[in-house]
Amino acid sequence: MTAITDSTAWKKLVEHHQSIQASHMRDFFAQNPQRFDELHLKFNDIIVDYSKNKITNETLKLLIDLVNEANLTQWREKLFTGEKINFTENRAALHTALRNQSNKPVLVDGVDIMPAIKKVRAQITNFSNAVRSGKWQGFTGKKIKTIVNIGIGGSDLGPAMVCQALKAFGHPELTPIFVSNVDGADIAQALQQCDPETTLFIVASKTFTTQETMTNAATAREWLLTHFGNDKAAIRAHFVAVSTNKRAVSEFGIDVENMFEFWDWVGGRYSLWSAIGLAIAVYLGMDHYEALLSGAHEMDQHFLDAPLEKNIPVLLAMIGIWYINFFEYNTLAILPYDQGLSLLPSYLQQADMESNGKFIGRDDEHVSVHTGPIVWGESGTNGQHAFYQLIHQGTDIIPTDFIMPIKSQYRPNSDADKHHKVLISNFIAQTRALMMGKTEDEVRRELFPTEEDYGELEHLVKHKSFQGNRPSNSIIFEELNPKTLGSLLAIYEHKIFVQGVIWNINSFDQWGVEYGKQIANLVLPELNVNRDTTAFDSSTNNLINNFKKNR
Ligand code: F6P
Repeated sequence: MTAITDSTAWKKLVEHHQSIQASHMRDFFAQNPQRFDELHLKFNDIIVDYSKNKITNETLKLLIDLVNEANLTQWREKLFTGEKINFTENRAALHTALRNQSNKPVLVDGVDIMPAIKKVRAQITNFSNAVRSGKWQGFTGKKIKTIVNIGIGGSDLGPAMVCQALKAFGHPELTPIFVSNVDGADIAQALQQCDPETTLFIVASKTFTTQETMTNAATAREWLLTHFGNDKAAIRAHFVAVSTNKRAVSEFGIDVENMFEFWDWVGGRYSLWSAIGLAIAVYLGMDHYEALLSGAHEMDQHFLDAPLEKNIPVLLAMIGIWYINFFEYNTLAILPYDQGLSLLPSYLQQADMESNGKFIGRDDEHVSVHTGPIVWGESGTNGQHAFYQLIHQGTDIIPTDFIMPIKSQYRPNSDADKHHKVLISNFIAQTRALMMGKTEDEVRRELFPTEEDYGELEHLVKHKSFQGNRPSNSIIFEELNPKTLGSLLAIYEHKIFVQGVIWNINSFDQWGVEYGKQIANLVLPELNVNRDTTAFDSSTNNLINNFKKNR
């Protein structure tokens, strides 16, 4: 494939960027009262308003030309039909099959994977029903009250984020806890909240070798066995595993009958749709878990069928490309105005940065353009009182995604709407302020009652004015429920995929993470020997030696 920068559309976008970069969105809105009507999309109850971006119809046309030149439709086909597009690991990336509700077979190496997916789904159904109803009992015959998911990365972030987001749908007598960090504080604090007789541990790890997860799981097992006088039979009632590695699960001491399988064609950061979602199924119940999957499946269909210029993931991806590669705004703030979605920025950080944080292309060469953005964020309105200052007046321009349900799941007092109206007014105000800005004349009119008052306070005018022209997408939906959340997450997954296609990178491996793990495995033994370490560079040696001397 020729480099994307040599494509006709890319070259035209470079020229178009020159012609548009000095324009102000304020003028776009003033010139076209229909701008919102033209630049928003609806999908079920989700509205995506992308009108507050530095784009014109010409920009969108050229961006869609670029998608076509990058052969997105062929790549999309490869994704959904199980081609091994994760070529560095020789794997397909078939998270879409996990939520496939059509009866179409999906083949990997000539074998239909749908029966295996359905089999594990049935196992999840039986298990979650049993735990929720109390049929599954702890070693002493008590009902399970606490579910502790031990996992990290994709084996933690997805289930943790969904359980928090959909707490309103959770079983009132079950408490989900997520332990991920190998810092002993994480598991210690979790165990303080648990009664061994009513706690169920889900050890979630694709590989079942991840250092953090295995260390935490071993600590949990020791804690449980200490309570039960080292009776190993207790493990069966209190530990289940989600993994692709049967042998390691069995060696850990978990009965493989209590193992929920998934497969190497499920990437860690795309795994909440697999048995890694077990904690979600147990906490929310199978109906809600299925609704989450069906919301994602419906978005998969939209991504497959909607024309590219009306395709939500494609448009969001291409607007991102516009900023990252032409304006060089290489960051994205995820700003959910919903306390339940406060873990969404971390979840999307892994989804995006682990997928597209790559500088080697599919052609094995160094890419010539910027790839994955730095993704970060915080729930609104908390973020407003932390970092929005920089978004409004910093020297970097930060593209933003504002996300919000129209109805709240919570009614904290008799004036049910009060909190939510305050919240949404902030959401709307921020997107408008970022777009409009405030001119120096507008500031003067605010500061000085009459022209005679100009003078003394004039030096404040520049400080109090705002350039505006700062982009945002607004994604709003009726309420945060399992189905809508499923669709929302699938939007981002496909958006990230489209961007990977444009950059011609493999969005499905993560060798950078592997490298850190490798070095940690060299450092760890050094911490246990009684001599000064000299094996590394002087900084690394001294950090190790300092730790050994002062611990
Ligand atoms: O962060 C790297 C990674 O490999 C992720 O892709 C994965 O989600 C996480 O580690 C956990 O891996 P595992 O499920 O094998 O424990």
